[in-house]
Amino acid sequence: MTVHGEPHAVWGDESEVVQLALDWTAGRVVRHTDPLTTARSASALADLAGPTVVPQGIGGPEALRIFSEVLEPATRSQDDPLNLAYIAAAPTRAAVAFDLVTSASNIFGGIWEAGAGGIFAENEALAWITGMLGWPVSSGGCFVSGGTSGNLSALMTARDTARTRRGGRPAGGWKLACSATAHSSIHSAARALDVDIVDIPIDDRGHLTGAALRTALEGNPEVFAVVASAGTTNEGLIDDLADIATVCEEFGVWMHVDGAYGGAGLAAPSVRELFAGIERADSFIVDPHKWLFAPYDCCALVYREPDLARAVHAQHASYLDHVDREAWNPSEFALHLSRRVRGLPLWFSLATHGTDKYRDAIETCLTTSRDVAEAIRRSDFLTLSREPELSVLIFERPGYTEADYDAWSRRAAAEGVILCVPTRLRERMVLRLAFVNPDTEADAVIAALESLRNVPLPL
Ligand SMILES: Cc1ncc(COP(=O)(O)O)c(C=O)c1O
Repeated sequence: MTVHGEPHAVWGDESEVVQLALDWTAGRVVRHTDPLTTARSASALADLAGPTVVPQGIGGPEALRIFSEVLEPATRSQDDPLNLAYIAAAPTRAAVAFDLVTSASNIFGGIWEAGAGGIFAENEALAWITGMLGWPVSSGGCFVSGGTSGNLSALMTARDTARTRRGGRPAGGWKLACSATAHSSIHSAARALDVDIVDIPIDDRGHLTGAALRTALEGNPEVFAVVASAGTTNEGLIDDLADIATVCEEFGVWMHVDGAYGGAGLAAPSVRELFAGIERADSFIVDPHKWLFAPYDCCALVYREPDLARAVHAQHASYLDHVDREAWNPSEFALHLSRRVRGLPLWFSLATHGTDKYRDAIETCLTTSRDVAEAIRRSDFLTLSREPELSVLIFERPGYTEADYDAWSRRAAAEGVILCVPTRLRERMVLRLAFVNPDTEADAVIAALESLRNVPLPL
């Protein structure tokens, strides 16, 4: 496609730069990733890029050249099949391409009146998610930038709902209950909401259980919400959701499920039963930019009773009086007003490929993870630290010191062998792999782990 546009009165003719950006994007989505791309210091980048934001501009072709030759290579490829550190992202090409369409459409996704067509499509994707949760068709929500803001918005709804239902704030302030395995963003949310955290001990399997929750709630009547994890970040474990739901119902406490990473497993029949009880939760998040093959930044935030969120998050001002409050306005379900329709790349990818292919892609990641786990179990130099539940593996190299783990991880990254960084399990340093990319091959991972046989040389 060749772009021709009328020159703009102020910006002039931008067709060349639009064409360049489109061509670059088309090349990027089919290009093999380079595992050697890595961060560089700001001073190195300043030297290589030179001044870019200057009164006369440097021109689109030069800006794109600098991005392509200097800046992008100084970023880590999140979709490299052997990037198994933290939780990477492997969007479909359809989703990436549609991110461009989403931007070009320039849709205001805050209110229905401005973004109806885009919001309708986002809601189709959300309905797929609430359908997998087993929630009523009246449930729903919106897309926000990430799990951190999704968790905060859900917990703000929970806190304000408790205030209304319980007739005010407890004398000592509100409390939020979760285990130490809950994501760090829950602690950020607690700080933002100015609430204390009740730390519930986990059991030997690493789960938050109903019994431990009951004990915690008996001693802390100020608790307004419990956060359960459906896929802990460090180990990929799913808390005992059904028992937690029973206790939440008994104590009249809001149940929020953080499925930012693991929620994608709802689509995978081989692990679906681990989520039993999730149908009774009050709010839920999943990040499509983690394991639902969408580009950054995208979190689906849904409520069983969206009206409760609306009562908390709807913004009111004279310039907003005109907004149709009967319509589905995504700005009313989270802490935001202006928003891009960031759920559209997920919707387009789902519509393009179908939910069956999503199921298959998630099962592929689970199979890869299980194959690597089995190789670790059989290995004579590695041990699996915990039986995996989803697609995160935690394992050890007996005999390695912390310095060895560190040196091995850094060398493997520097040589482009694999991205696998250490973490801690019960104070011990261990290695962690997170599988969210269906292009990752078990054999390649197993081959990369061979280098753990030897004690690493320092870099
Ligand atoms: C379980 C869980 N919750 C929340 C988050 C935060 O998500 P985000 O990085 O999109 O803000 C993460 C991120 O890894 C996570 O794993």
